Order: sequence, then structure tokens, then C-alpha cells
Amino acid sequence: MAKDKLFGKHLLCTQDWEVDELIRALELAEDMQKERFSGKYYDVLKMRTYMMFFYNPSVRTRQSFECAATELGGHAQFLEPKSMRLKTKKTAGETVEDAAQVMARYGAGVGIRILEDKIGAYGEGQKLLEDYCKWSPAPIHSMAHDKFHPFQGLADVMGLKKHLKTPDYNFKGKKILQVWGKGALARSWCSVQESILINSRLGMDVCLAYPEGFDLDPEVIALVKANCKANDAEFEILNDVDEAYDDSVDVVYSRNWMTAGAYKGGEFDKPGEIEKSLQHTGWICDGPKMAKTNNALFIHPMPIDRGNEVSDDVASGPRSIVYDVAENRLHVQKAVMALTMGNLP
Ligand code: CP
Repeated sequence: MAKDKLFGKHLLCTQDWEVDELIRALELAEDMQKERFSGKYYDVLKMRTYMMFFYNPSVRTRQSFECAATELGGHAQFLEPKSMRLKTKKTAGETVEDAAQVMARYGAGVGIRILEDKIGAYGEGQKLLEDYCKWSPAPIHSMAHDKFHPFQGLADVMGLKKHLKTPDYNFKGKKILQVWGKGALARSWCSVQESILINSRLGMDVCLAYPEGFDLDPEVIALVKANCKANDAEFEILNDVDEAYDDSVDVVYSRNWMTAGAYKGGEFDKPGEIEKSLQHTGWICDGPKMAKTNNALFIHPMPIDRGNEVSDDVASGPRSIVYDVAENRLHVQKAVMALTMGNLP
């Protein structure tokens, strides 16, 4: 058993890792899927604990990280800020400097989720994770924060390689339509921004479509443009849903996201965001729109807002890969935990 050269590396966004490091994690994830119950990886985290720090609720992330720790021979501890005494803008308490250094004395790594109403302005989640990275000797992983969702991006591309039937993680010549969908959940930008970053990094053409007023982070868009330029791939932004769907599209990723005006006076205006969102009645991914594509795959990180972001027949249809991608969360998380925290056979 040996430590990998990625041992100790933080993961807040896939863009922070080299492409060959991402591919190393993805190839390990594929082997971990094949060897899931063979015993090959049972001792990778033997007697080690992973700290999971959730400001927001989760189905997939919590369950898949707990299963990942178990399947690697370790344990995952569930933590909520409400059960701790942390310093916030409104309350006295323990600083990140202290909390991060203490947690790293117990755990082999720390995952943090902070989204939507648990911050007062876009960027605060990223800042919090960067502070943990600064003070923690153990690796810090984003389990979804306001800007990025790296494990979702890795799970997505693992699913796309399998279902697009590409021989490797070079997606040159394929095109993803990253399209806004109306919704009643007022989502953060993390999954969508991670998707356009990692897919453009792997050579995919990217069409980003949303109604006027739903622009994403301009710094992320600049990175996506640079990724596309480096790969000689196409990038476009459209504000017309009907124009977005055509026969050049190989993958449709329909997802709701908030506007840049979602934070007002340090609060997340969820009712206002939902009201704005539901006005755009035509922005749903449905059968007639999918019929215009190149028999595109449908991908979504879940939870799905059925009837808003996407119709049932598409979400549950033969081209939907949502459950495979959800399963991949387990495999990619095991791989990154093994590389950054564990001992590999
Ligand atoms: N995709 C995702 O992160 O799902 P959860 O919010 O259920 O964890």
C-alpha cells in the first residue's frame, strides 16, 4: 500500500487540477466500480475517518460519501454547524483557523457543503472553503458550494464517456447544451458552472442557453471560453430556448439556476427567485425539444424538479443517464478520497 502523489491535495473545483490528474481519478473510479466488492480497495482508508460538514441538506452527497468511506474500510462522520459553536457574522464562536486545524487532527480529510441560504452573498462559500484550505493540513473537498461542485462534474463526465461511447476522456467533436430550466428550487450555480468547466476542459463544444437575466459568474465564463479556445472547441451563449435545441446537440443538461440578484441585503431571496423563474414557462426540456437533437443523452445532477426543469418522459426516458451519474458519485468520491487521503494497493 502506498500514498499517491496527489496525497493531501484539496479539491474545490476540477479546474484546479491538471487534466491528467482528473483522468487519473476518473480511471481509478472506473476500476473501483469494476472491483467494488472484490476486496481490492477495502483497506484504502482502514481506521481513517472522513469529516463531512453539511450546512445544507443532501441525499446523494451524504449517502455516497458515507458509502465511499465504508467501502474503503474507513468511516464518515456527519457534522452540522448547528451542532458546533462556530464564529459567524452574527455570532461569537470558534474561528476557521481553530476548527480546521482541530478537525485535521482527527480526520484524514474534510468535505464541506455550503449553498444558497447559508451564505449572504455569492462567493462567501468559496471564501469559507479557501479559508479551510489555508488552515487545514488535511485535504479539503467541496461537497458543493456556491461556485462549484467538483464531484458532480467528475461523475457527469464518467457517465458521458460510457454513454457517448468515447474511447477515453477526450470529448472533442461532441456538444453539450447546458440549458436553464424553470424551477421552484432556486438553485445555486455550482453544478452548472462545474459542468461547463470540466466539459470544455475535455474538448466538448458548449452551448449555454438561458433567459435574459440569468447570466452565470463572468469569471467562470471567461475560464470556459479559455478552455474552449485551448481545445479549438466552440462556445456560444443563446437566450432563445427554441434556437438552442438542434441536431448538433449530443448531450442536454437542463437545470434551474438563480439570478445574480438572488442575494439582497445579505439574505437569499428564495421566494423572489422562484417567482422570477416560473414566469419562463417555455424553458422546460421536453420530448419535442429533445426530438430536434442528435438523439441526445439527458443528464442532470439531481434532485430533479420534474415538470419544471424537465418533463417526466425525458427524465425517465431511454436517453436519460441520471441514475448512472448518481451512482458515479460513489466511484469518483472513492477515487479522490483514495488519492488524496488514503493508501492505494
Ligand atoms: N447532486 C447532488 O449533490 O445531490 P444532493 O444535493 O442530494 O447531495
